[in-house]
Amino acid sequence: MIANPRFDLQGQTVVITGGGKGIGKIYAQEFAKVGAHVVAADIDGESAEAVAHAIEAEGGKALGIRTDVSDAASVEAMAQAALARFGTIDILINNASLMSTLPRRSWLEIPVEEWDQVMAVNLRGLFLCCRAVVPSMREKGRGKIVNISSSRVWEGVPNRLHYTTSKAGVIGFTRAMAHEVGPLGITVNAITPGYTLSDTQVQSSSGNYLAAQAEGRAMGRAQYPEDLVGAVMFLSSQASDYMTGQTINVDGGKAMH
Ligand SMILES: NC(=O)c1ccc[n+]([C@@H]2O[C@H](COP(=O)([O-])OP(=O)(O)OC[C@H]3O[C@@H](n4cnc5c(N)ncnc54)[C@H](O)[C@@H]3O)[C@@H](O)[C@H]2O)c1
Repeated sequence: MIANPRFDLQGQTVVITGGGKGIGKIYAQEFAKVGAHVVAADIDGESAEAVAHAIEAEGGKALGIRTDVSDAASVEAMAQAALARFGTIDILINNASLMSTLPRRSWLEIPVEEWDQVMAVNLRGLFLCCRAVVPSMREKGRGKIVNISSSRVWEGVPNRLHYTTSKAGVIGFTRAMAHEVGPLGITVNAITPGYTLSDTQVQSSSGNYLAAQAEGRAMGRAQYPEDLVGAVMFLSSQASDYMTGQTINVDGGKAMH
C-alpha cells in the first residue's frame, strides 16, 4: 500500500524544544514512531540525551542536545548540530517553557526577575528558535512551525500571571510570524493544551488541584500528553499546508471559542 504523503512524516527532521521531559518527551517518542528524525533540545541535557538514546535503541534516529532556548548562541549551536547530523530542519515544535517549576502564587508575589525569566524562555525562546531554523526551511521552500500556547489564555487562569501572559504572547507571535514567513512556504500555527497530566506538571500540583482537572470538560476525563499528539502532528504534516496563523484548542472541550 502507498503511504499518503499528506500525513507522512517519515525522514522529516523535527526539532522539539523541551524534548527531554514532560509532554515534549512524548512528542519526541511519537514522532520517532512515525519515522521522523528527532532532535530533543532541552536545558536539561541529560534528559534530552536519554530520550535520544532510547529512540536510537529502538532503531529510530535522534539527537539529544542541551539547549537554552533563551540564549541565542545556544540555540544557534543546536540548529547547527541538527543540520550537521540530519542535513535539514523541516519542523520546529516550540514546546520548551517555564511552567511546572513556577510556584502558583498571587501576581503581587511574583518577583520581577522571575517575570523577566518567563518572558525570556517562553517568548524570546520562540523568536530565537525560529530565527535559527528558518534558513534551512527557506532553502527547501517549505517548513512547519508549531508553537505551544495554553488554554489558560481562553480561561484567564490566575496564579501564574507571567506564564498566562506569555502564552497569550505566543498566539500574537504565531499570527504575525505566519505573515512573515508564509511567502517562504512555511506555516506557523499554535495549539492551546488544557491542563495536562505530564510527569512534570503532576509533580508540581497538589492532590486537590489534580482531582479538579476533569471538571467542566465535555469529554469528562483528565487530559494526558498523548491527547495532544494528533493536533501537533497534523500541524507538522502536509495535510495542514493551507492553514497558518491559527490556534487549535485541545482541552477535551472545556474552553470553546
Ligand atoms: N502540562 C500542562 O498542563 C500544560 C498545559 C498547557 C500548556 N502546556 C505547555 O506545554 C509545554 C510542555 O509542558 P510540560 O508539562 O511538559 O512542561 P514542563 O514544565 O515540564 O516544561 C517543558 C520542558 O521545557 C524545558 N525547559 C525549560 N526551560 C528551558 C530552556 N530555557 N531551554 C530549553 N528547555 C527548557 C524543561 O526542562 C522541560 O523539559 C509547555 O510549553 C507548557 O507551557 C502545558
